[in-house]
Amino acid sequence: MSEAVIEKVDNDGMVRLTINRPKALNALNSEVLSALEAHLVELEAHPNLRAVLITGAGEKSFVAGADITEMREKTPEEARAFASQALRTIKRLETLPVPVVALVNGFCLGGGCELALACDWAVASDNAVFGQPEVLLGVIPGFGGTQRLPRRVGPAMAIDLVTTGRKIDAQEALRIGLVNRVMPQAELESYAEELTKQLKGNGPQSVRGAKQAVHDGMDQDLDSALALETSLFAFCFAGDEQKEGMSAFVEKRKPNF
Ligand code: CAA
Repeated sequence: MSEAVIEKVDNDGMVRLTINRPKALNALNSEVLSALEAHLVELEAHPNLRAVLITGAGEKSFVAGADITEMREKTPEEARAFASQALRTIKRLETLPVPVVALVNGFCLGGGCELALACDWAVASDNAVFGQPEVLLGVIPGFGGTQRLPRRVGPAMAIDLVTTGRKIDAQEALRIGLVNRVMPQAELESYAEELTKQLKGNGPQSVRGAKQAVHDGMDQDLDSALALETSLFAFCFAGDEQKEGMSAFVEKRKPNF
């Protein structure tokens, strides 16, 4: 498989994907998108997948956008095909049945921000820079930014960002809810380790169920979404995880999921 995306999987199904094009600040070209999609197709079939962390190679950039050099000479039809490839790939990431977390280690611009928006949550290094600067290039966001950004930060802030193309720092990204946490770059690794440990300690099926309830419920009216939650909650009682988790509490020991 191409080295444009590096995958590390541990024995417990914790996966780290690294976009690996540091000389171009990990910009997303067709090769990177194909490599990412190939990994995601494999991960969709992974029976014991627990969580996915995604980051960029090097210390400067998460992803600095779609590849401008590659896009420069595209026709409208080619641009549509490129955006479709990216949207399909990003959707695969978003719909993995386990938590997907972006470790944003620097520039997170254009297509990079759109990739992070498809993750369940993002944590950023304090030197990270965010933005949708497409209007500076004579285009609009094409990898989902006009749709996922307002859903995450609200329409007013989204329209501010996509029409001015201004860049924001990690603290502003935190304030508007684009990222969950900000930390010094050197601490991103220990955060990843801590998160991995935490998720490994939880019931794998309940973690999947909790993500499914939020994701599927968001597209429904409140009453339907609450009914969905009840079904997924009741379904937990059909498996071993609930028996083990609750028995462990009563017996004052750690659960063994
Ligand atoms: N596409 C292609 N190459 C890129 C790139 C991109 N999005 N971003 C950076 N690079 C390349 C640069 O061309 C440069 O390559 P060379 O060394 O061969 O010249 C290399 O990465 C390093 O970049 P800089 O020298 O520019 O680094 P810097 O520290 O001076 O600046 C930066 C960093 C502010 C991120 C600057 O590179 C930049 O503005 N990049 C473009 C960001 C951008 O506009 N992203 C949106 C792209 S459009 C998009 O994503 C559309 C969409 O929704 C689908």
